[in-house]
Amino acid sequence: MKFPFIDLQAQRAIIADEVDAALKRVLEHGQFILGPEVEQFEIQLAEFEGGGHAVSCANGTDAIILPLKAWGVGPGDTVFCPSWTYAATAEAIAVIGAIPYFVDVDPVTYNLCPKSLRASILQSQNAKAIIAVDLFGQPANYPELRAIADEFDLKLMADSAQGMGCRLSGKAPIEWADVVTTSFFPAKPLGCYGDGGAMLTRDESLKEQLLSLRFHGRGTVPGDHAKVGLNSRLDTMQAAILIEKLKIFADEIEARNRIAHRYTEALQSNILRTPKVIEGGLSIWAQYSIEVPDRDSVMAGMRAAGIPVAAYYPLPTHMQTAYKDFPTSPDGLPNTMAAKDMIMALPMHAYLKPEDQDAVIETLLGFM
Ligand SMILES: Cc1ncc(COP(=O)(O)O)c(C=O)c1O
Repeated sequence: MKFPFIDLQAQRAIIADEVDAALKRVLEHGQFILGPEVEQFEIQLAEFEGGGHAVSCANGTDAIILPLKAWGVGPGDTVFCPSWTYAATAEAIAVIGAIPYFVDVDPVTYNLCPKSLRASILQSQNAKAIIAVDLFGQPANYPELRAIADEFDLKLMADSAQGMGCRLSGKAPIEWADVVTTSFFPAKPLGCYGDGGAMLTRDESLKEQLLSLRFHGRGTVPGDHAKVGLNSRLDTMQAAILIEKLKIFADEIEARNRIAHRYTEALQSNILRTPKVIEGGLSIWAQYSIEVPDRDSVMAGMRAAGIPVAAYYPLPTHMQTAYKDFPTSPDGLPNTMAAKDMIMALPMHAYLKPEDQDAVIETLLGFM
């Protein structure tokens, strides 16, 4: 390949001295689990997201599991989620014995479709929660999803593993969701150098439960464990790295938007469909995904020409072996099924050089 799909080293070059110094501080104070950097990062992340509390944890999958456990969701309960997302969204539901109920996505934004959600809720039993996904970095339709959650008395979770930093009408998803979860997997827009995750909430009592559940469910009496929890803590080294990365995150979001705009200007046509962000939305462009006819041969051609591209996702979750027996929307998943054959993600990160982006654009237009 001529250049990487996501260039983590370009970012590292900018903050290498700060990260090295931060890691040295951790090595010297030696509090590798729940050291001071963890709480410092949690405070800064909550501030970045417009207030409330942030509770960090070991990864973005646990970040979904922990609030579900706190809400008492378990065997026999139904949780609605898109099929068109990474499998971890449904996995977090199924692993605690609950039922992931697959809902279709909007054909334009690829985020949870309120109409399909409502039809699914009406058909379901023991409905407990909705998980919206900020797919490819753009916010879901939170005002409509919140209204549905309130109407049916359901919890609303924002799986913002791909969307940390996205906004709708200038506000973060926490404005609507009961809890927002995210992943710091290295390739995510706000990634660390290993696994990591976090949950954000404005609910003080949920925060307390999450703090306990991420630490084996420990109680207030020393030695007592009040609940069956997980060992799911963000380690101090990762928190120290994230503190440095958060400092440049706003600039990186701006850069990603500039690059996305440049792609859209060059590529929009009758043949390709460039991404559309929900009205009033700010995407952080975890992926820049376009719809291409004859996607698989275009992808093969791009790769042969040395341009890295990816298909997210070749198989929607409801078609995957572990998830094929769970329920799907009564109206089917037509938009999910259409997306799976057409979507191709182009190289996207905050440090993509104009000449590399030009090579992507020219090669792709050549195929068209
Ligand atoms: C939408 C979504 N949810 C959850 C996750 C899980 O995050 P992690 O890999 O940190 O467990 C991911 C990660 O790829 C994701 O994309």
